[in-house]
Amino acid sequence: MYIKNIKLKNYRNYQDLTLSFDERVNIILGNNAQGKTNLIEAIYLSSNGKSFRTNKEGELIKFGNDFSFVDIEAYKDEDELKVSFVLNKDGKKTVKVDGLKLNKISQLLENILVVIFSPEDLKIVKDEPDKRRKFIDRELCQISPSYFDNLSNYKQTLFQRNSYLKEEKIDMFLLDIWDNKLAEYGVRVINSRRNFIDKISKISGKVHSNITENKENLRIEYNPSVDIVTKDEFFEVINKSRENDIRQRTTGKGPHKDDIIFYLNDINARSFGSQGQQRTCALSLKLAELSLIKEETGENGILLLDDVMSELDLNRQEFLIKTLSDNQIFITTTNIDDKILDSFPHSKIFKVENGNVK
Ligand SMILES: Nc1ncnc2c1ncn2[C@@H]1O[C@H](COP(=O)(O)OP(=O)(O)O)[C@@H](O)[C@H]1O
Ligand SMILES: [Mg+2]
Repeated sequence: MYIKNIKLKNYRNYQDLTLSFDERVNIILGNNAQGKTNLIEAIYLSSNGKSFRTNKEGELIKFGNDFSFVDIEAYKDEDELKVSFVLNKDGKKTVKVDGLKLNKISQLLENILVVIFSPEDLKIVKDEPDKRRKFIDRELCQISPSYFDNLSNYKQTLFQRNSYLKEEKIDMFLLDIWDNKLAEYGVRVINSRRNFIDKISKISGKVHSNITENKENLRIEYNPSVDIVTKDEFFEVINKSRENDIRQRTTGKGPHKDDIIFYLNDINARSFGSQGQQRTCALSLKLAELSLIKEETGENGILLLDDVMSELDLNRQEFLIKTLSDNQIFITTTNIDDKILDSFPHSKIFKVENGNVK
């Protein structure tokens, strides 16, 4: 799968932009604050329905304008796929796929499959647990639209339960209703995550051995807040922590507190890994994401590399390029090594300057 054309109107610092991309490698060059990441963000939007930088969609509209649009034309084999967005200042968003308006964002997710690798992701091993949960959710939503629905329902129920826990008088019968719903969606989220982490661990283990020439063994483990497999078990756990929840006025246990642990040669990489080792784990993880997409959907996902090439040493950069000979890649960077440039048989270079692209 690859993205052929993009059209932006009033998107971030772009007023009117139309570009045609290479099927393989697209290098987006430019100084800082010129619009490189904005372009990557627009591509990402067509895949996930939201930005990876902000939840405030008004920020995506060019200053001083009332609306913005993003049109993307992609190809899956010979089939053309069109995704379009209209964002309004009042917060309204219209998403269309092949001209048909979508009712739910989950209908968008399985269309264009994109993996993003940004400086944020390089820190995934070291970061706080919420960043790792975000990673899992982002990936799972793409390969499983039902996961997106379960997760949204879980989050909504959690929000409602937490609001209820803040009330003066708590009716146990009413709380039962929330707990029941929470358990229903929660158990689905947990089981999907367990299954996903199991798969991604196996694949990234292989990738990691390759990158490190068998010197390091990577294993990724699920560390669920509630370690259960059935809805009844989940219900029982929150039922037991009810008194505590009422005292704290919030839900203490559940997938919203999950984490994953990275082990390098059986040692926790978050606590004991060097920065270089942690970064290589992140790279293995990203490459594993693309493999998993291929496995689950049969498609070659599109990789967005936002400012990370320069953060990886030459060996890692070469490994990445060699491994991804079947994927479309977008690379943003302020400068690129000639040796790396020479290793791309097909590539297109875009120079970005203040919202203009040459
Ligand atoms: N809504 C917006 N309207 C106009 N300009 C914007 C908007 N949002 C961000 N920008 C501008 O975009 C530039 C940053 O673009 P970005 O793509 O992040 O840069 P980089 O090339 O370093 O990746 C900044 O100059 C910023 O002011
Ligand atoms: Mg940038």
